[in-house]
Amino acid sequence: GSTLQDAAAESGRYFGTAIAASRMSDSQYTTIANREFDMITAENEMKMDATEPSQNQFSFSSGDQIADWALQNGKRVRGHALAWHSQQPGWMQNMEGSSLRNAMLNHIAGVAGHYQGKIYAWDVVNEAFEDGSSGARRNSNLQRTGNDWIEAAFYAAREADPDAKLCYNDYNTDNWQHAKTQAVYNMVRDFKSRGVPIDCVGFQAHFNSGNPVPNNYHETLQNFADLGVDVQITELDIAGSGTSQAEQFRGVTQACMAVTRCTGITVWGVRDTDSWRASDTPLLFDGYGNKKLAYGYVLDQLNTA
Ligand code: G3I
Repeated sequence: GSTLQDAAAESGRYFGTAIAASRMSDSQYTTIANREFDMITAENEMKMDATEPSQNQFSFSSGDQIADWALQNGKRVRGHALAWHSQQPGWMQNMEGSSLRNAMLNHIAGVAGHYQGKIYAWDVVNEAFEDGSSGARRNSNLQRTGNDWIEAAFYAAREADPDAKLCYNDYNTDNWQHAKTQAVYNMVRDFKSRGVPIDCVGFQAHFNSGNPVPNNYHETLQNFADLGVDVQITELDIAGSGTSQAEQFRGVTQACMAVTRCTGITVWGVRDTDSWRASDTPLLFDGYGNKKLAYGYVLDQLNTA
């Protein structure tokens, strides 16, 4: 394949990007996105604050703009994200207890219901575990509604869109030795053993020098896949430049391709200048839309099937 999506498709995988609605009037941006990527995630437009700015008043125009563009161009859509401690609308931030639990369930029904039939996979719950060595759940208003909030979210998502794959998505879960990785693994194992409807685990994969691509990434992905879920790289970006950056992108691609149930890779933006951390130049295209060295390494690895 001569594009990322075509090369990935040769092994039955997808190659995706995050898209920001505010950039869709930039034709260089949409030209690259349309040519290279076949899975689209809305960078912010399907989050809780964007889709339910006032309680029970849903707003889908920006999310629809991205989903419609993707579907009209023959692409699939990853939904991001139904329940998260961050980017909650103001009205939700100080809620608690059963009113918050019910508001979360109503949100999931409203958003997953609106997009029903259009989403390949939803990030149902995002970033629910603590960093560091505790392996604990993150202390958030959602967590304080009860430890079962995550499975409640998955049941609500399944009811709203029975055909979407339902994912748990997090960061710093790449290294198999990390407590956070083990904690998420134990939750997924528990969910599978009790029949909680979870289909996939998303690995955000935001890397930098302090948090490099681990040597055991393949082992991590395989161990999760062995629980009976798909795994996906969902928000890949790697700070740096040149050969070092390119080799790390190749390593992530290689790790995914070594795991049958790693169904695809999504990078978190198109050009470096589109990134949430643009100064890290963490993406596959430079600010002028040129392919970087890392692009070539990823493409070659995808073609080494
Ligand atoms: O749209 C408003 C604009 O109207 C306002 O003037 C401006 C002033 O701050 O803010 C704009 O919103 C910003 C939004 O991005 C759109 O650019 C928010 O402040 C800013 O917080 C938001 O950042 C997003 C971040 O999530 C929020 O948590 C990033 O774009 C987005 O890339 C990032 O994505 C997350 C994933 O969802 C989850 N995993 C980590 C990843 C990186 O942080």
